[in-house]
Amino acid sequence: MSSLEKIINELSLHEKEVLLSLHSFEGKSTPEDIAKNDVGSLVKVMNASSWLQSKGIVDIHEKLETIYSLTKEGKKFLTQGMPERQALTELINSNGQIDLDTLGSKIGKDNLAIALGWLKKRDWATLQSKDNKKVILITPQGKKDAQHNTQDEDALKSLKEGSSIQGTSVSSLKKRGAIKEKEKILRTISLTQKGKNILKKGLDITDVLSQLTPELIQTGKWKTATFRPYDVSAFVPSLYGGKKHPLTQLIDKIKSIFVGMGFQEIAGNYVESCFWTMDVLFIPQDHPARDLQDTFYCKQPPRMPVDKHLLDSIANVHENGGSTSSTGWQYKFSKKEAQKSILRTHTTVNTIRYLYEHPDPPSKIFQIGKVFRRENIDSTHLPEFQQVEGIVHEKNANFCQLIGILKEFYHQLGFEKLRFRPAYFPYTEPSMEVEVQWHGKWMELGGSGIFRPEVTEPLGIKETVLAWGLGLERIAIMYLGLNDIRELYFSDLDWLKKLPLL
Ligand code: PHE
Repeated sequence: MSSLEKIINELSLHEKEVLLSLHSFEGKSTPEDIAKNDVGSLVKVMNASSWLQSKGIVDIHEKLETIYSLTKEGKKFLTQGMPERQALTELINSNGQIDLDTLGSKIGKDNLAIALGWLKKRDWATLQSKDNKKVILITPQGKKDAQHNTQDEDALKSLKEGSSIQGTSVSSLKKRGAIKEKEKILRTISLTQKGKNILKKGLDITDVLSQLTPELIQTGKWKTATFRPYDVSAFVPSLYGGKKHPLTQLIDKIKSIFVGMGFQEIAGNYVESCFWTMDVLFIPQDHPARDLQDTFYCKQPPRMPVDKHLLDSIANVHENGGSTSSTGWQYKFSKKEAQKSILRTHTTVNTIRYLYEHPDPPSKIFQIGKVFRRENIDSTHLPEFQQVEGIVHEKNANFCQLIGILKEFYHQLGFEKLRFRPAYFPYTEPSMEVEVQWHGKWMELGGSGIFRPEVTEPLGIKETVLAWGLGLERIAIMYLGLNDIRELYFSDLDWLKKLPLL
């Protein structure tokens, strides 16, 4: 038997089918087209093809292609128009001039902030003060561009119509969260000269044995049968088992680190009073963080009950220092303001209530929970994010110990290069920020410090309290190698499936 005949004899049924199919495609095709040509599933085609490749009968050529698709945001841009386009249209409709509030009410407050940035960037309008009002005026460029789509808008349209896009719009739309990127491997299979020679000889569509059956053994037929050899490097489909969401896995890991360091977990409610979230923490009532722009105030319940005695004593601390040796903030404290209900802006609210309820040391407490702030969404900010918060309350606790605990925590997570910088929080002194080095840049992870006497004394807390509140999502994107915090919540099934266990 010639060596070519020997090779032909050892071909499996699927291999022969792929070869015949390739023949009908004039020697070159994609696995998808071969599968359509009635050879069976893609997996079978790829399996047979990698066998054929290992025998030098076909070549498999792979090319990586980047594919873009519209995100929810991108689809919104298409149906409602990009914020700057909406603003430009309003400007045109009002003869090139509109005041800021009117524009805000027409296109929505969230859109307004984004639109203003882009109006300026695209040189479509200028912002001016007129009679104590902020007014937006269209520029000649704005008038010109009102007539036609921007490159970004054209790109969004192309994507919707199924065409591919490239150029500067890709990065700009990616940054704005309008499109997402996926990599796809494109394969072509082609006959080699050897493959062509085989087809010239002709193929007989019968199978060689690929499995040893009880019958073959019992009858002794196995002794004369031809078996197909095994290839351990052959293509097999990937199997993806069920697993926890990566963020949940990370939370589990963080919990086990703190539990391992002797901490106990606590939790609390999302809706809280200003009193427990801010006032007991000595945050003055005119602090910018308490603005409508930063905090979500709740309509229901409008007020939350606060212990009258405690409210009086905290009011005194703010006004003149009360029973502490501080002089306080020296302003008129509003008890009404203190009782307003809000979505908690930090998890420190639970920490401080826990300390009030457990004033006797020692305690080591941690929690991981959602907090809410009126942030515009971008690659590093979300209006709803999670904090990793903790305290150590014990006699002689000190600042070095705080640094040590945070270092130990991040080291256990695998972050080596940390730095601590002085910071300011109204409720701690001294205060510091933790930063970690990531891709050569320092990334801010959260705040920490020692609670001030204005916080601890009125609540009857006996000893020194070391406290910290760290961002969970920032840790997560570094951990998972993401560039954008939003990707954590996209629930891209492809990404989730392929992600290894943490
Ligand atoms: N509450 C702070 C924040 O939300 C973090 C912090 C917690 C700072 C405890 C000091 C002490 O950013």
